[in-house]
Order: sequence, then structure tokens, then C-alpha cells
Amino acid sequence: MEKKQLRIGLIGCGFMGRTHTNGYKRVGDFFPALQYRPVLQAACARNEDSVKAFAEQWGYASYETDWRKLVLRDDIDAVDICTPNDTHAEIARAAAAAGKMVLCEKPLARDLQESQGMVDAIAKAGVANTVWYNYRRIPAVTLAKQIIASGKLGKIFHYRAQFLQDWTINANLPQGGTGLWRMDAAVSGSGVLGDLLAHCIDTAMWLNGGISDVNGMTETFVKERMHQVTGKMQEVTIDDACSFMCRFNNGSLGLFESTRYARGHKALYTFEINGADASIRWDLHDLNRLQYFDNSDESIVRGWRSIHVTDGDQPYMNKWWVPGLGIGYEHSFVHQVADFLESLETGKNCSPTFAEAHETQKVCQAVFDSAHSGSWKRTGI
Ligand SMILES: NC(=O)c1ccc[n+]([C@@H]2O[C@H](COP(=O)([O-])OP(=O)(O)OC[C@H]3O[C@@H](n4cnc5c(N)ncnc54)[C@H](O)[C@@H]3O)[C@@H](O)[C@H]2O)c1
Repeated sequence: MEKKQLRIGLIGCGFMGRTHTNGYKRVGDFFPALQYRPVLQAACARNEDSVKAFAEQWGYASYETDWRKLVLRDDIDAVDICTPNDTHAEIARAAAAAGKMVLCEKPLARDLQESQGMVDAIAKAGVANTVWYNYRRIPAVTLAKQIIASGKLGKIFHYRAQFLQDWTINANLPQGGTGLWRMDAAVSGSGVLGDLLAHCIDTAMWLNGGISDVNGMTETFVKERMHQVTGKMQEVTIDDACSFMCRFNNGSLGLFESTRYARGHKALYTFEINGADASIRWDLHDLNRLQYFDNSDESIVRGWRSIHVTDGDQPYMNKWWVPGLGIGYEHSFVHQVADFLESLETGKNCSPTFAEAHETQKVCQAVFDSAHSGSWKRTGI
């Protein structure tokens, strides 16, 4: 079968530029039935030497050093935004206006106003879109969604999530500039709230429905750091840690915590959901497993089971190896590429769309507002 080409223009050639490109390269081998085939048409970053080297290494046919040129090229079908958060809105709006499909990294934007503008631009252009909240597509997490949808948990009482890291404890770590833009709120929008908790919020609302009310707190433990761009000691404006409690529309209660000051933890994303009839628990450090407790089990064998999510009838796993053999972090991006390509065949949305990621932005904004006012805030969801 002759495949239709989807010519990709990738903007940003760092960490996510690599995970996405790996997804585009692998998808055809493991999802051979798809009608669309990604073509690595152009990569873009500001430094010519590094973008040229990236394009050569990963197999892009060409490169650009100005994203404005890339989004206007006739030989690009889809623009993939893998740049720091302060650029997402402008690039997405320009790409949509040029009639390109838009795939955007999370968080969608730095704040609600920016993300609203992006949602409007996408709606006006009527172009296919998706946001890379990739954790949804780890098979064990997708299985959690299926288990919840089947009703096995019964009425849900509690949702608990944590995302813990420790890489900014050192007070001598600078802020801003290449590699450290996450430490500068002018670029990132926020600290762990947009970087880490946004993932937890996306997964939570996908699994357990909308979050209606939040009460949060933030802390910046190191108040001043050297700024790499100015060379001066400057106030740190991101949240180093952020926790919030919340109410979901289904009546359940949520507790969320993220920090970059949890010594010993590198990327410990965990969640647990407790229902009347069953509970589930997941841990990114053991991502092929889903912990499951079913209260209807016979009492003498009742207990937490550890489901190794590697069997062909479990989500995505019939595309990979044989039962018992696990997959990794990078596969969640291959899955999102596959689902995006399939959405072009079916005409259905590839979730989360910009509009859905905007809902996550609403929760982030409410947590931010709550932390600053010291009071409960409604999300409007
Ligand atoms: N889905 C996830 O799990 C996940 C993980 C990490 C990062 N992210 C998101 O991905 C985005 C990028 O993060 P990263 O870790 O890959 O960052 P990074 O610093 O590793 O890479 C950013 C890249 O963007 C390029 N860039 C910056 N400004 C540019 C501009 N104006 N024009 C063209 N290129 C420009 C840089 O040169 C670099 O190549 C962020 O929005 C981040 O929040 C998502």
C-alpha cells in the first residue's frame, strides 16, 4: 500500500526533539497498518552548527534556524513544537494560521491567557492538533484508564499523585539560559507546577474527570541564583515545590505534590486511585507494572496484585515483543505518534487536544492563584 506522507517540521532539537523524532522513525516499523508515514522534512533550532548536526544525525532532509521560515514552508504538513514554554503560543498561532497541523509539547503555555489564544487559533484554522502529555500512552496507564472505565473501581473516593525530583537542591545551580530555562519563570511560566504537576493533572482528569476546586501552596527554597544570561544574582521566580488538594466533579478528593527537592528521587511520578471496590497504583520507575487490588477477590487470596502489562491483549503491547518483555519511556511517544497518524485516518481527535490541554492549564492557573491568595479557587471546569 502506498502510504500518505506527513512531512514533519520539528522545532527544538533538545530532549523532546529527540524523543519525538525517535517516535516518527520507529512508528512505521511497529504500526505497519497506518496509512500515514512521517517524513523528517526539516528540523529547526537557532544555532546553525547544532541544528545541522542534529538534522544529519537523526535523518532530517533539511534544517532552518528561524522557526518563522519553517512554519511557512510549503513542504511541511505538521509543525511539532519542542521548544521552551515561552515560545509555544507564538509558534502554534503562526503554524495554525499557515494551515499546518500542530503538535505541541506540554505545558501548552505559560498561562491561561496564552493557552486560550492558542485554542482559538487552532479552532479558527480547523487543523489537527495534539499536546504531548505522553504518560497517558504508557500501556500500564492506558490499562488503568480501561479498568476505571469498566467500572471495576466502583465509586472513586481518592486520587493521589506525586512527581518528585531532586536536581535543583544545589544552591549554586544557576538559572536561565540553555538547559536551565526551567528555572526562569519568564520562560517557563512556572516551576514544578507547569513542568511536573501539569502531567499529573492531565492524567488525573483523563482517569477521574474534571477538577472543580483547588487549594495549593508553593515554595521557593533558594531565593536567589546566578542568571546565566545576565551573569547577575537574581531573584528566583519559579516554584521549587508545589502541593495542592482538590475536589473532583465526581465527588472524590485529590492530593497532588511535586518538588525538585526530594533528595534521592529523579523522576518519581506515582499515582493511586481508591474506589469502593478496587484500587490501582502506578509508578514511573516501574512503568510496565500496574498494582491492582480487587476487593471482590476470594478473601484468602485477596491482596495487591502486580500486573505485568506486557501481554498482547493489553494496550499497545501487541505491537511490540512477546508477552513478558517490557518496553520503556520512549515508547509512549511512539504511541502518541501512532495515535496521531490514526486520527488523521479516522478524523477523530488525538487526545489531548489543545482544548483539553487548556483544561489542565485552568487547573494550574487556579493552583497558582490559590497559592498566592491563600484561599480555595474554582477552576471553572
Ligand atoms: N512530555 C514530556 O514528558 C516532556 C519532557 C521534557 C520536556 N517537555 C517539554 O518540551 C519542551 C522542550 O523541553 P526540552 O526538555 O526538550 O528542552 P531542551 O532545552 O532540551 O530543548 C529545547 C530546544 O529548543 C531550542 N530552542 C529554544 N528556543 C528556540 C527558538 N526560539 N527557535 C528554535 N529553537 C529554539 C533549543 O535550542 C533546544 O534545541 C518544553 O515545553 C518542556 O516543558 C515535555
